[in-house]
Parts: sequence; structure tokens; C-alpha cells
Amino acid sequence: MDLKSRINREKLPHHIAVIMDGNGRWAKQQGKPRVFGHRNGVKAVRETTEAAAELGVKYLTLYAFSTENWNRPKLEVNALMALLVETIRSEIKTLNENGIRLQAIGDLEKLPARSFKELMNAIENTRHNTRMTLILALNYSAKWEIMKAVKDLAGLVEQGKLTADAIDEDTFADALSTRGIPDPELLIRTSGETRISNFLLWQIAYSELYFTPTFWPDFRKEDLYKAIIDYQDRERRFGKISEQAN
Ligand code: IPE
Ligand code: IPE
Ligand code: MG
Repeated sequence: MDLKSRINREKLPHHIAVIMDGNGRWAKQQGKPRVFGHRNGVKAVRETTEAAAELGVKYLTLYAFSTENWNRPKLEVNALMALLVETIRSEIKTLNENGIRLQAIGDLEKLPARSFKELMNAIENTRHNTRMTLILALNYSAKWEIMKAVKDLAGLVEQGKLTADAIDEDTFADALSTRGIPDPELLIRTSGETRISNFLLWQIAYSELYFTPTFWPDFRKEDLYKAIIDYQDRERRFGKISEQAN
């Protein structure tokens, strides 16, 4: 049986998050500059988005640029930002054809003006789509997001609009940039690294983690299917014992 038909459509994760990693090493393997890897990563983005939408996954979050990534060589940062503008602009049509709404999380206003403008334009132009939401994490870090939520909530308390006692998990989740988006059931990281690198810390409290040695530019639909099948074979107990969980 092929991989796709082994997926149980009734147990599909609603939200899959991906740390797209390994572009640089993929390029280096072939004696090419790192940017060549980033360019080839775009195909993996397309494939993953298409595969997730076809299956009926409702939310796909892709970690595209972390707040720490600004510390890379300027040439690479500039190339990544240029690639972002270019890709977003050229993909709007495909997103609309496939019913995909674009959203973004992160400190977006600190992106270069052109990238920010292109991003806002794509979000606006795809906002009516309902089949799947594609969320790009851009200039994102979980610690930044949590700090911002804490400050925003403290501000509301200061203004007398909220009491400290009324802050619960829901209030806090609503203060994060993922407000309204269900937590990912499945988090995938490519390239063999087994760390979180400041991604969605609050939201992945109970996510299933899936690590694959595949470098991001080589990631294809079949790789997503494999991750989903692996996820579906796991028992999610949420602190209970096996008999209760089933
Ligand atoms: C992921 O690939 C893309 C971004 C972080 C922007 P990398 O560029 O981190 O590739 P490696 O991990 O150095 O191979
Ligand atoms: C994490 O990858 C960030 C993105 C995928 C955008 P990195 O390559 O930046 O993470 P580290 O440096 O290996 O932790
Ligand atoms: Mg990396």
C-alpha cells in the first residue's frame, strides 16, 4: 500500500508545525553556496503545503526565519529576505487556486519594509480562503512571543482592564501571536537536529515531536506522509494511563 493511503483520515492532525532546517548543509554537500539551498527549499515548501491541504490538514506552520537568524552573515540574511518577497509574490495565485489563507507570526514590523509590505499584501489577498491556513513564522521566536504576551497582559492589568487573578491558560494563549489557532499535534524538524530552537514553546507543550535526517530541500510529500503515519501510531496519553487513554 502506498504511504498516502496508509494515513487514517479520521486521525489527521489539525495543525502541523515544521522547523525547516538543513538548507545550508544540503547546498554544501554539493559544493554550492548556502543560498542555493534556500532557493531549493522553496520546492519543499510548495510540496508540503500542497500535501497538507490535499489531506485536509487545517493549519500548517512553517518556521522560516528566527529572531536569531539576523546574526547570520549579512549576505545570507539579505538573500533570505529577497527570496521571501519573491516567493510570496509568486505564490499568491497558487494559494488562491488551492483555497489557502496565508498568515504570519513573529515580530513582523521589524522585517525590511518591502518584505513586510509583500507579506501584508499576500495575507490580505488570501484572507477569504478557508481550506487551509498556512502560517509563516518570520522574525519569530517563542521567547519574544511569550515576553510580548506578558507585557501586553501586564499593561491591561495596569490599566485596570484585567485582574491578575483572571489570567488563566486561555487568557495567556489569546495573548500569543497564535491566538485562535489550535496547538500543533505534530511538530516536524528536518536535518537531523533534535532541538526546538526557540519555536512555539507554549504551543508544543503536548505536541508529538518527529525528527528526520532529511535536509529540507529534499523534503517531499512522501516525507510528510511518513511523519503523519508515525504520529498516528503513537499513543497520546496526556498524563493518563494507557487504559484510560484508549
Ligand atoms: C534552514 O536551513 C533555513 C533557515 C534557518 C532560514 P539552514 O540555513 O539553517 O541550514 P543549515 O542548518 O545551516 O544546514
Ligand atoms: C531554526 O533553524 C530556525 C528556522 C528553521 C527558521 P536554525 O538553523 O536557525 O537553528 P539552529 O541554529 O540549528 O538552532
Ligand atoms: Mg539550520
